[in-house]
Amino acid sequence: MENEHAPRGIDPTKAHPARRYNYWLGGKDNFRADRESAEQVATGFSTVRLAAVENRKFLRRAVTHLTAEAGVRQFLDIGTGLPSAGNVHEVAQAIAPQSRIVYVDNDPIVLVHARALLTSVPEGATAYLDADVRNPRSIIEHPDLLRTLDMTRPIALMLVATMHFVTNDQDPYGIVTTLREILPSGSHLVMTHATDEHLDAAGRAEAHEANVRSGIPFQTRDRAEFARFFDGLELLPPGIVNVIDWRPDEPAEDRPDERDVSMWCGVARVP
Ligand SMILES: C[S@@+](CC[C@H](N)C(=O)[O-])C[C@H]1O[C@@H](n2cnc3c(N)ncnc32)[C@H](O)[C@@H]1O
Repeated sequence: MENEHAPRGIDPTKAHPARRYNYWLGGKDNFRADRESAEQVATGFSTVRLAAVENRKFLRRAVTHLTAEAGVRQFLDIGTGLPSAGNVHEVAQAIAPQSRIVYVDNDPIVLVHARALLTSVPEGATAYLDADVRNPRSIIEHPDLLRTLDMTRPIALMLVATMHFVTNDQDPYGIVTTLREILPSGSHLVMTHATDEHLDAAGRAEAHEANVRSGIPFQTRDRAEFARFFDGLELLPPGIVNVIDWRPDEPAEDRPDERDVSMWCGVARVP
């Protein structure tokens, strides 16, 4: 960030997930503490920047598919991150201008930049909630959400690279179950999640230690733990796969090694 000058209400001395992710994606809205945290993670998982880029590419493909093929017109994007190339409303409204999007994040820096997320075309709508996914009722009962989305029509609930910030003692499955309560039939759940399953034991230990040193609580989950979030839903083909393998645009030989990305994803329909 220019001259490391922090907007009011922002603590530049402590690393935050949204700012660290912004650094990995090549953005400028981050501080030294975020970059140091990012470099700490990279000491244990050197391709983390590639993982962030591939995760973002998945998000674009999933929103494109849901809008163009599945007819979804409403999105609840929790853990939005800083505005970036291909925000959900930009991707969805390029295909269906009437799309309505509610963004949610708990990082104060995202709130500062939220205006860039509130640039809906006139046919659609966007809203931003400053809320914490660990208090899911504060999201699903929020008046701005109820004003923006039609709760009787399908909604894509997006938790893209968000739930690995919710540790096991914070009831991750209960949170997603509560959020899923509002989804009418024909809705979708879209998730990605970091895993250490592709690494060997030494790699796992290194990645774990590096995450601890980075100062941001982080919980990787294996395939079975990730799949549990989708219990009772109909997974769209190709099911639960690495983000690089979900309806890819590039041929297999041009895609990175899955160990270098280590992110599960899934898109599922509410029956
Ligand atoms: C890695 S970024 C992902 C951004 C975007 N979804 C994407 O995939 O490109 C994770 C985001 O989740 C947000 N986040 C982390 N914990 C959260 C919480 N408890 N409640 C709401 N948002 C949270 C962070 O602030 C950050 O913006």
